[in-house]
Amino acid sequence: MKTGPIKDLGRAFDRVADAYDAGRPCYPDELYHALTDVSGIDLDGATTVDVGAGTGIMTRALRARGSQVIAVDPGEAMLTRLVSRAADRQGTPLAAVLADGNELPLADGVADLVTYAQSWHWLDPVASITEARRVLRPEGAIAGCWNFHHAAQAEWLAAYEARLAEEVSSYWGPAVEEWSVPPIAAAFEVIEERWIPWTRLIGIEQFLLDLRSHSYMAALSPERADELVGRQRAELRKEFPEGVLSVPMRVYLAVGK
Ligand SMILES: C[S@@+](CC[C@H](N)C(=O)[O-])C[C@H]1O[C@@H](n2cnc3c(N)ncnc32)[C@H](O)[C@@H]1O
Repeated sequence: MKTGPIKDLGRAFDRVADAYDAGRPCYPDELYHALTDVSGIDLDGATTVDVGAGTGIMTRALRARGSQVIAVDPGEAMLTRLVSRAADRQGTPLAAVLADGNELPLADGVADLVTYAQSWHWLDPVASITEARRVLRPEGAIAGCWNFHHAAQAEWLAAYEARLAEEVSSYWGPAVEEWSVPPIAAAFEVIEERWIPWTRLIGIEQFLLDLRSHSYMAALSPERADELVGRQRAELRKEFPEGVLSVPMRVYLAVGK
C-alpha cells in the first residue's frame, strides 16, 4: 500500500470496516452497463481512480470488468481490507493509495474514469471535482453512485427506516423529510443522471451488519448500537420468521465532466 499525505479522515468507517465488508451491498450489473453507456468509456482496459474506495466493493467490480484501478481512501482499516481481498484473486493491476481524495497524489491526465461509489458526499464538493478533472484525460468522465433502500416500495422497509429516524439523532436517510441524493450533479457538468432499481435478497443478520456499518451507527456507543440492532432484529424476525429479506433498492448514478 502506497501512502500519500492524509489528514485525519476516514476514521468513522475504520471502526466499522468488518461490518462494512460483510454487510454492504454490491452494485447491480445494470449500473456498470449504464456507466459505460452514459460515459462512452469501455471499462475493459480503462484506468479508473476509485475515490473513497473503502473495502473495495466498486474496485473489485471494476477490476472484474477489465479496469486497471487506482483505489484511494484515507481509512487505513478500510484500505487494508481492500488490499487483502484483492490478494485472493488474479486481476488487472491494482494500486491502493492511502490519501485524501481532495488532494490526489497522482499525476495529471492519468485516468479515463474517476468513480465515487457511495463516497463523494464525504469530500469537499469543489476540491474533489477539481482534482478529478486534473487526473482525467480530456475525454474522461466522473461518476458518482449511491445505493439506497427504496423504502417507498415496501411497508416493512419504511417502518425500519422510520424506527432509525426516531431513535438515532444523526440518522440521514429516506425517512427524513429533507433527505435527498448528494448534490454531485450541481458540482460538475452533468452528462446524465439515472436511477437503477434492483432487489437485494439477504438474511436478517447480514442486513443488520449493513446497518452497523453506517457512520451514524459508528458514532454510537457499542451498548447503544447493540440495543438498537436488537430492537430492529426483533421487529424483522416477527415480520420474516424465515429470516430472509427481499429488499427493494435503487442506485442513483450521475455521470459528468
Ligand atoms: C460509504 S464508504 C464507500 C466505500 C466504497 N466505495 C463502497 O462503494 O462501498 C465511504 C468511503 O469514503 C472514504 N472517505 C472519507 N473521506 C474521504 C476523503 N476525503 N477522500 C477519499 N475518501 C474518503 C471513507 O474512508 C470510506 O471508506
